[in-house]
Amino acid sequence: MSGSSDLPKYPFARSPRSYNPPAELGELRRQGPTERVQLFDGKPAWIITRHKEVCEMLNSDRLSNERYNRDGYPEIHSGTKKEGVRPTFVHMDAPKHERHSHDGELFAPEATEALKPQIQEIVDGLIDLIKDRGCKDGPIDLVIEFAAMVNPKAILLLIFKVPEKETNKIIQASSALSGTSGTASESGHTDLHDLLSQLVDERIKKPGSPQEDLISKLVIEQYRLGSLDRDDLIILVYMILVAGNSAIESSIALGVTTLLQNQDQLRELRDKPELAGQIVEEILRYHTPSALNSRRVAMADLRLGGKEITAGTSVIGFVRSANRDERLYSDADKFDIHRHVDPHQNLAFGYGPHNCQGQWLSRLELQVVFSTLFRRLPNLKLAIEPSELEYTPPTQNVGVVHLPVVF
Ligand code: HEM
Repeated sequence: MSGSSDLPKYPFARSPRSYNPPAELGELRRQGPTERVQLFDGKPAWIITRHKEVCEMLNSDRLSNERYNRDGYPEIHSGTKKEGVRPTFVHMDAPKHERHSHDGELFAPEATEALKPQIQEIVDGLIDLIKDRGCKDGPIDLVIEFAAMVNPKAILLLIFKVPEKETNKIIQASSALSGTSGTASESGHTDLHDLLSQLVDERIKKPGSPQEDLISKLVIEQYRLGSLDRDDLIILVYMILVAGNSAIESSIALGVTTLLQNQDQLRELRDKPELAGQIVEEILRYHTPSALNSRRVAMADLRLGGKEITAGTSVIGFVRSANRDERLYSDADKFDIHRHVDPHQNLAFGYGPHNCQGQWLSRLELQVVFSTLFRRLPNLKLAIEPSELEYTPPTQNVGVVHLPVVF
């Protein structure tokens, strides 16, 4: 590829006052499944826009997810890639990826399902606090008080078995951190690094039950056998804690906002909380809140969507566009809780070997949230006009910064 200066610049910018995707998303998908864009540093990249071809791309063994040891991995903002980082399995290729990710079994669906009663307790506990406070002193910020708390509470209490009284300190230190690529040392957030190092050291000294606590499992099955050292363990624990936070937070805040703007569909959910499962799937399809991560670099020449991609070239899987592909979803730009979205075709969690490992836990958290929130707070409504809502910066993953509500 050459002559990239006339190409559309990626990431595309949303309107700052809307959660709707940028116009380029639909335009490029109509042009073809494999189009060209220009990255922030001027380098060209291929972007894959349609569902079938994005699945093919994310399954291809000719494309690498090695961000740190290989040239050509597409960076989308300046300063996000640091040198000298120890990658987690997220940025390894097969067979190292399978070995280090325990064949994707970190959060198996059955083990995750068993956590439902405790997740219900966490969600109810957060809503109790909101109800106790009430809105006599002004609106509640549903992002800060609720959406941002659900996942870190679940990970710390249920997955890492951290005692309740210690969770708030860690959540505070980890707030505003997210993403599957970062590492504690990379972020410079030394408080969080220290707190997690302390936690890992305690478990190395005295592991708990490997069936109940993931850090103890990693200590017994990996650290003691020499396949992970202490630093690897800290990085992994950090990554698991922050990986899904902003996507869960955004799914909750965007889901609430969208339902409040579609009162007929919200009424159905209020009447039938058991619809929460299909509603969550549609929220994830419609908003695709973690849309910027599925990027790769070609290790060998390949043909994708009718175009020749040469080794060393950057390739972006445009999952947000694929989730709006009218070849799979009729009236794809419409939010419709009755749409059938097959979880295995929903690209909100990616696809192929690097498919999200936290997806079953995430679905469970979101299902509990959406079957509970409007039942416990039936009069929940926005305290400001929808047009006044503050969204995440236009070239970042879509999300809501503050969600002032009354009930
Ligand atoms: C709504 C919530 C979430 C969304 C939308 C989401 C989305 C994604 C996406 C799109 C990928 C694939 C990136 C790629 O193609 O390279 C991914 C990977 C990953 N996610 Fe999530 N995620 C969510 C929650 C979580 C949670 C809660 C955790 C941890 C508990 C988690 C852990 C991971 C890990 C470890 C990977 C890398 C998998 C691998 O490379 O093998 N995610 N996620």
